Amino acid sequence: QPLVGLVGWRGMVGSVLMDRMQAEGDFGLIEPVFFSTSNAGGKAPAMAKNETTLKDANDIEALKKCDIVITCQGGDYTSEVFPKLRAAGWNGHWIDAASTLRMNDDAIIVLDPVNLPVIQNALAKGGKNWVGGNCTVSCMLMGVGALYKAGLVEWMTSMTYQAASGGGAQHMRELLTQFGTLNAEVRALLDDPKSAILEIDRKVLHKQQNLSAAETANFGAPLGGSLIPWIDKDLGDGMSKEEWKGGAETNKILGQGAGFGTAATPVDGFCVRIGAMRCHSQALTFKLKKDVPVADIEAMIAADNPWAKVVPNTREATVKDLTPVAVTGTMDIPVGRIRKLAMGPEYVGAFTIGDQLLWGAAEPLRRMLRILLE
Ligand code: HSE
Repeated sequence: QPLVGLVGWRGMVGSVLMDRMQAEGDFGLIEPVFFSTSNAGGKAPAMAKNETTLKDANDIEALKKCDIVITCQGGDYTSEVFPKLRAAGWNGHWIDAASTLRMNDDAIIVLDPVNLPVIQNALAKGGKNWVGGNCTVSCMLMGVGALYKAGLVEWMTSMTYQAASGGGAQHMRELLTQFGTLNAEVRALLDDPKSAILEIDRKVLHKQQNLSAAETANFGAPLGGSLIPWIDKDLGDGMSKEEWKGGAETNKILGQGAGFGTAATPVDGFCVRIGAMRCHSQALTFKLKKDVPVADIEAMIAADNPWAKVVPNTREATVKDLTPVAVTGTMDIPVGRIRKLAMGPEYVGAFTIGDQLLWGAAEPLRRMLRILLE
């Protein structure tokens, strides 16, 4: 069985990946080698077979023995170790959750239900570097990739509602701590049904504006009861890096744009952090190349892959099935609110949600592993 090195398997994305690999029986097909940056020599988890101690994740010789390495350790690790490993002559497959290598010419962004032909083409040419996409982009394409595959999209805007988990585990804790602090601030008033709502509001606002530095250390601003319309780095041209990724990665996943000698589809919009836990939501506006009936759009989305689910555009179905709470922990990518917009028959709106730790992070990686094992 191929030797598969696992790095960063204990973190949030890594833990979700381990769960999914166990659920899908992936460990039955591989000889896992568990690596650690902090606990080399410690005991490997129960999925280990022959290699029951943790190897040092910075040990190039140990990594070199692997046929495949999967890492969820993060971008700093990739930047540090990947070049050394390749420089040492390692010719194995590197599967990575971090964004570091994503836009490199020799790296493919993997999302096989959407871009299996791109992956297969790269494999045939000897490709070895496979990187998971930005969570928002992957979830969006799992939902509405059908419209891109059909060549129908002239342009798209995506207005996102991104969960705390996109920042990391500490960000989720910070959000909940803020909610707790705000609730505690007005609990007595809440318990009194006759208390004045404007007094509650005033006290909450005062607390939000005076949260300690420790209580906003991760997001840098209050998120509980608020939102933050900026995600990731400031690119200096008015765009956030998360917004840039939307256009750059969508096109790269689809195998179109500059690097492919074809025209890119304009994809742009605003990325906003909201107080959800781990599902990224997005309001999409499409300008289609022609007038396509809503029923046909729904049928294309529903038929595209087993996970995209059309939610009828009614209030009842929407509030039941098209919320982060309904979707979290599932592989479903619901797409709802599909309707023609007032701007004209080629303008279509939709709303989609995905668990950013599943399709947004772990799942494309383990599916790439399966493709390599075929
Ligand atoms: N950049 C994403 C976010 C994380 O902050 O939500 C997943 O790519």
